[in-house]
Amino acid sequence: MNILVTGGVGYIGSHTAVKLIEAGHTPIVVDSLVNSNVESLARIEQITGTKQLFYKADLRDRDALDAIFSSNRLDAVIHFAGLKAVGESTEKPLYYYQNNLDSTLVLLDVMQAHAVKKLVFSSSATVYGSAPVPYVETYPAGQGITNPYGRTKYFVEEMMSDVAKSDDTLEFTSLRYFNPVGAHPSGLIGENPNGTPNNLMPYITQVAVGKRDKLGIFGDNYDTIDGTGVRDYIHVDDLAEGHLAALIHATPGYHTVNLGSGRGTSVLELVHAFEVAAGVTIPYKILPRRSGDLPAYYADASLAASRLNWRTTRTIEDACRDSWNWQSKNPEGYN
Ligand code: NAD
Ligand code: UFG
Repeated sequence: MNILVTGGVGYIGSHTAVKLIEAGHTPIVVDSLVNSNVESLARIEQITGTKQLFYKADLRDRDALDAIFSSNRLDAVIHFAGLKAVGESTEKPLYYYQNNLDSTLVLLDVMQAHAVKKLVFSSSATVYGSAPVPYVETYPAGQGITNPYGRTKYFVEEMMSDVAKSDDTLEFTSLRYFNPVGAHPSGLIGENPNGTPNNLMPYITQVAVGKRDKLGIFGDNYDTIDGTGVRDYIHVDDLAEGHLAALIHATPGYHTVNLGSGRGTSVLELVHAFEVAAGVTIPYKILPRRSGDLPAYYADASLAASRLNWRTTRTIEDACRDSWNWQSKNPEGYN
């Protein structure tokens, strides 16, 4: 298949491009580079021996996107492009709504104009808000989302659902990711956050490599195994393979599928797993709870198994080893 990969220069898109190429597909990347570095494309070429077609464009530029669809026979789209920083989205909600919603509206419109019917979208477990664990796809989405970023995910899901209802030949899937971590085992591609990392794993790896003094742990008095927050961490290569499975098993209609391991891991458990994998000590201090954080959640991963014939195969230890391999080989990321 020829697959347009929006946001394909970024963290999850770059790992997915490798899996697509290895499975014999042709990814065609469009990215504005607002949060990524083209060096990842050179690294993908190093891993796969294949040079990808790349267009630097903002998805909101309808003429540019239309030209890409006109000059390539596309079979499907994987839509990763979007801004993802939860804190920044509360400071700049319009920027988030404009970027994440307008880009998807233009994409859906151009797909319709060119009769491209298969779409896989990067959604998030954040659409569940606060709900009993494990999170199941049948739960109502959109209640109790605490930030504009999360609402953009929910609104895009609703847009896709409405569009799919209007044309029963469309095959649309929202993949609700839990917490992506890890890196390609080569150490050539990985997560490359700008500035201070918001997420736990890149913070840990930056402490390990000496860029930061110590990790701050947001709360140790939750009702969890050790008082720290619990999440469902998923290796980015498992996640990437989930996209391939979603394309292969696409069927008409609009579908939502969780991509998670089905297991919860606490902050301290992840820190200790990392210390063993990397052979380093991670100094930390306990800070107050972070506003908007939920105590604990993880996926019901059974629908992905039955519908997509997909399940995670990599462990937390694999993810820690691969994150450390990436960070230690690239202390400054792609810069
Ligand atoms: P990333 O920032 O590394 O990649 C996103 C890419 O999209 C970047 O390369 C960026 O330059 C590009 N982009 C943003 N807006 C664009 C636009 N208007 N036009 C063209 N390109 C644009 O992020 P990631 O971690 O790879 O995440 C990929 C997707 O998965 C995002 O939609 C994100 O919201 C979603 N997601 C990520 C996580 C996570 O923790 N990483 C969790 C759940 C969902
Ligand atoms: N944490 C710390 N210290 C840090 C960073 C995080 O203790 O420096 C803790 C958090 O409090 C939480 C856990 O580590 O308990 C995971 O936090 P992350 O920021 O890594 O991830 P979140 O679960 O908060 O959010 C992630 C993505 C969002 C997505 C959400 C949905 O960043 O984009 O998952 O599952 F919406």
